[in-house]
Amino acid sequence: MIFTVSKLQQIRSQLNVPGDKSISHRALIFNSIANGPSHICNLSFGNDVRSTIKCLKALGVHISTTTRCPNNLTNCVEIIGKGLFGLTKPKKPLNAGNSGTTLRLLTGILSGQNFFSIISGDKSLNNRPMKRIIDPLTEMGAKIQGRSNNQYAPLAIQGTSLNPPDQIELKVASAQVKSSILLALLISQKKSILIDPFKTRNHTEIMLKSMGISITQNNQLITIDPSQPKSTNIVVPGDISSAAYWIVAACCHPNATIKINNVGINSTRSAILNILKSMGANIKISNIKNISGEPTADITASSSDLTAIKISPEIIPNLIDELPILCLAACFAKGTSEITGAEELRVKESDRIKSTINGLKQLGVQNIEERPDGMLICGKAKLKGGFCRSYNDHRIAMTMAIGGILAKGTTTISGGEVASVSYPDFWTQIESLKI
Ligand code: S3P
Repeated sequence: MIFTVSKLQQIRSQLNVPGDKSISHRALIFNSIANGPSHICNLSFGNDVRSTIKCLKALGVHISTTTRCPNNLTNCVEIIGKGLFGLTKPKKPLNAGNSGTTLRLLTGILSGQNFFSIISGDKSLNNRPMKRIIDPLTEMGAKIQGRSNNQYAPLAIQGTSLNPPDQIELKVASAQVKSSILLALLISQKKSILIDPFKTRNHTEIMLKSMGISITQNNQLITIDPSQPKSTNIVVPGDISSAAYWIVAACCHPNATIKINNVGINSTRSAILNILKSMGANIKISNIKNISGEPTADITASSSDLTAIKISPEIIPNLIDELPILCLAACFAKGTSEITGAEELRVKESDRIKSTINGLKQLGVQNIEERPDGMLICGKAKLKGGFCRSYNDHRIAMTMAIGGILAKGTTTISGGEVASVSYPDFWTQIESLKI
């Protein structure tokens, strides 16, 4: 489908964003292998999380939406956990759709079950790297075979009893890989240490701890002493990766203020706020709370005079999903911005270095240079608007749409429906900014 957006003269808005996608997946998966019933509220109902729900149901887990939310919130589900070894053999291959988190986290769990399963995804997911989970899981005794010499899904998993080494090292800066390994360690029931040189998102560690698992981090060492997780009610904070679109929209627009309520600001996820602030952004944080072990806040962003920024490798994991929209912000900043160490962008739902650059060029940005691990963006670009493709990637579709409301002319985005992977209400909300 083709979506059309055009320049807004003024923006004054207050918005709620969907529940955090990463936390939603984990709340569903971890409560499925916990014992007994729990509620998850403000769950993301994007297509990725729907894929997780479908896979868990195919593994015999009872999950139902409920209007009787204990917290009087919407998007609430009830889930009956089956315990660490209570999942049942799926009748068909599991379909993770577009969702890397679904496929990689579930593979960690399925490796240690006593049945055979196959897990696959859509065309994009089946071309994303899986050796990064197959190798460490195999080191722990898992029996997994992937397409093309273990490079890609579909994965055939012969569940077995895992026997991990005392220490295992994380080789890729990926929270999905880290979580896949931690879940396999949990299933193995053997106390182990994961050496983690990267500071990737830590929702898995926070949530497993809240479910009674002994998991501690000491610098680079994560020690997990497995036991049966306890079912735990979870309220999911708003997704900072979704809020990022509105924050950048407000900062780059000459006459705008947008407030986003109840956004997760976990420090392993919120580097975008620090980066934008160091670019000179008007961002105010208020109403800080703690929800289910995760810090949340209201974020108000307004028109700003931005200056260029250098984003260096060590911070990349903490804003990996926000890089496309940050590149748009860099187009409005004074000076030349530089992103390095972001080669992981090439293995996301699209090659996000290429798709971001192509999209920004279509909007009228001229001085932008591709690097193997990032890009150089010359700011104060004149965005004219134009015809953009989504590249079947939700974050690219939404970035180009925000570019469209900031650009002079009209912008069309083909394949924009892919936004519903993480943000089903995105197009309705962007339309609501007109009022
Ligand atoms: C996620 C981790 C990140 C992120 C993805 C969600 C997660 O992926 O890009 O959208 O929920 O753990 P990687 O772990 O592959 O970097």
